[in-house]
Amino acid sequence: MWPSPLNPRLKNWSGTRVWVVGASSGIGAAVAQKLIGQGAKVALSARHFEKLELVAANRPNALVLPMDVTEPEAWEAGHAALRALWGGVDLVVFCAADYQPLRAWEIEAARARRTIEVNLTGVYFGLETILPTMLARHAGNIAIIASVAGYMGLPNATVYGPTKAALINLAELLYADLHPKGLGVFLINPGFVKTPLTARNTFTMPALLTPEQAADRILAGLARGQFQIDFPRRFTLLVQLASLLPYRWRFALLNRALGL
Ligand SMILES: NC(=O)c1ccc[n+]([C@@H]2O[C@H](COP(=O)([O-])OP(=O)(O)OC[C@H]3O[C@@H](n4cnc5c(N)ncnc54)[C@H](OP(=O)(O)O)[C@@H]3O)[C@@H](O)[C@H]2O)c1
Repeated sequence: MWPSPLNPRLKNWSGTRVWVVGASSGIGAAVAQKLIGQGAKVALSARHFEKLELVAANRPNALVLPMDVTEPEAWEAGHAALRALWGGVDLVVFCAADYQPLRAWEIEAARARRTIEVNLTGVYFGLETILPTMLARHAGNIAIIASVAGYMGLPNATVYGPTKAALINLAELLYADLHPKGLGVFLINPGFVKTPLTARNTFTMPALLTPEQAADRILAGLARGQFQIDFPRRFTLLVQLASLLPYRWRFALLNRALGL
């Protein structure tokens, strides 16, 4: 017999209230569109209003809520609007991210701060905003999109990688704290997906998925109640295994694989 899942199985989307933050393109847009198609009430947030409107496509169960995740007052305003309109939120998907491929010798602290603020601080602003209501209701779900780049230090992810490693760590401890209080916490670690974010990569990305394929994997993982939703497994497993190797072997393997 299979052990019971770590989280509630999220699959009956009709009427479920979902807030997708980072919904104007890529994975977030694809997840939002699939959930809208399955009858969820979906609030779409990101900075670019026009892009959000295109994703929402005038569907009556889609709500465009532009915001910048680095502004705590924007989180408060968005949450207040959702409480007023829907009475609350059942699932928040943290999808917004900033990425710039950088090698170690290209580090600029000021630019790094922006990435850290979007990818990490923004999540804390969001958690501070939404958790009190979810905790009071003993219900609600949080899905954090981290990355395989958080499993181990990979070249080019000089600032992005550490933010994603931190999100993996954060999701683990959120689960420990929040699961006993009735909340679901999902950690989503995609491999490479063809989006505006990865369009900045100049190398060939292995096992590349489309945003629609990524969204299908995410929805399947939510439906199974998985804590860790990572895909495609043929790639994420390799990175996980490599991260377990002694450093001497791991560095040698990485150098050889990447031709460094
Ligand atoms: N693509 C991949 O291969 C891959 C792999 C692993 C993990 N991921 C993760 O998957 C998530 C989605 O990425 P993606 O590849 O789909 O990239 P994407 O298409 O560039 O989407 C990023 C989203 O974040 C939003 N965003 C950026 N800065 C923001 C800010 N300050 N405030 C509010 N929204 C902001 C963007 O919208 P605006 O510009 O309109 O604000 C956009 O909607 C990210 O967390 C990323 O790290 C992606």
